[in-house]
Amino acid sequence: VKEAAARLMDGEQATVALQYHPTEGYLPLRQMLATQMQDLGVPCTAENILITSGSQQSIDLLGKVLINPGDKVIVEKPTFLGFLQAWGIYGADFVSVETDDDGIIPESLAAALQQGIKAIYLIPNFQNPTGVTISAKRRAAVVALADQYGVPLLEDDPYGRLRYEGDALPPLMAYDVRHVSAGGDGPLSEGNVVYLGSFSKTFCPGIRIAWACGPTEIIKLMTQAKQGSDLHTSTFGQMLTYEVARDGFIDVHVARLIKAYRARRDLMLHLMDKHFPENVSWTHPKGGLFLWVRLPEELDAQEVFQTAIKRNVAFVPGQSFFPDGGGKNTLRLNFSNAYPELIEEGILRLAEVLSEIVAPVS
Ligand SMILES: Cc1ncc(COP(=O)(O)O)c(C=O)c1O
Repeated sequence: VKEAAARLMDGEQATVALQYHPTEGYLPLRQMLATQMQDLGVPCTAENILITSGSQQSIDLLGKVLINPGDKVIVEKPTFLGFLQAWGIYGADFVSVETDDDGIIPESLAAALQQGIKAIYLIPNFQNPTGVTISAKRRAAVVALADQYGVPLLEDDPYGRLRYEGDALPPLMAYDVRHVSAGGDGPLSEGNVVYLGSFSKTFCPGIRIAWACGPTEIIKLMTQAKQGSDLHTSTFGQMLTYEVARDGFIDVHVARLIKAYRARRDLMLHLMDKHFPENVSWTHPKGGLFLWVRLPEELDAQEVFQTAIKRNVAFVPGQSFFPDGGGKNTLRLNFSNAYPELIEEGILRLAEVLSEIVAPVS
């Protein structure tokens, strides 16, 4: 990163990097992302790509453009807290749809769509907070339902490249038949899905570079909204990200992350299997950063948290990921951030707390 930054500052590009820039984003970066999206099965061009300051800004811009107070918005149960915060401000009325180990349940989604829905928000890969991935069969079903009801579908995918086992699945956007049939060389002009990608988990979150890929009309609306918010995403940050991506650093870095995170996930799962009480269950994510723990129904993860924190081990109680309430007995664990020694220490302490609180199976 230091070398790339020095290259940028030493070259003719330095004055561009430090100047104002068009709202849509740095063209070489947009072109590179359009090519990546094409490789994932989405026939698009740079005109379909808007660079944003993190995916969080894409989420916010879409809320600004799409949502009026009282609009009903479908989310997975549970879902990403940052989405609830961003769209809650625009007055969205969240409708949570049931999920299982294969992601959102199409029959439940179909039933929820009867209610007059303005948008659907899904995290298809290694979901935050559960770590669950939507299966290929369900991806097709979910996109078909969004098409049938003409409801915009936000596909938030910050974790897709962090896969530790199994084959990558095409993004929801690639299942949108109208996108695929649009084909050709021009930009995508039709379709229901807006894909949100981010460099936060594959490069670094501090530079705040992400992108939205969608049909031209929605990208134009988002661009107008962004102009009013921050004019454009940091030119320097975009050019630096382009530099490190094009010289292959991000691919090497992601390969390294995958190796380290896989080992941490495996360690955490192994220790949980060995030490957690029998009546506690959890997900086995094939990628991403998180796994999701279910305590016996009668327990409150907030109370467990109070005890755990006294032993210097923290987790995220699950309740805040449920906009309609519920989830009191759930919690989210992160396996990517801590070194293996700390994971071991943390899980052992948590296991001790749980063993004291959770009544043994009789
Ligand atoms: C599902 C999801 N969407 C969006 C974001 C925000 O990411 P960014 O850093 O790109 O704004 C996160 C961050 O954790 C996330 O988990």
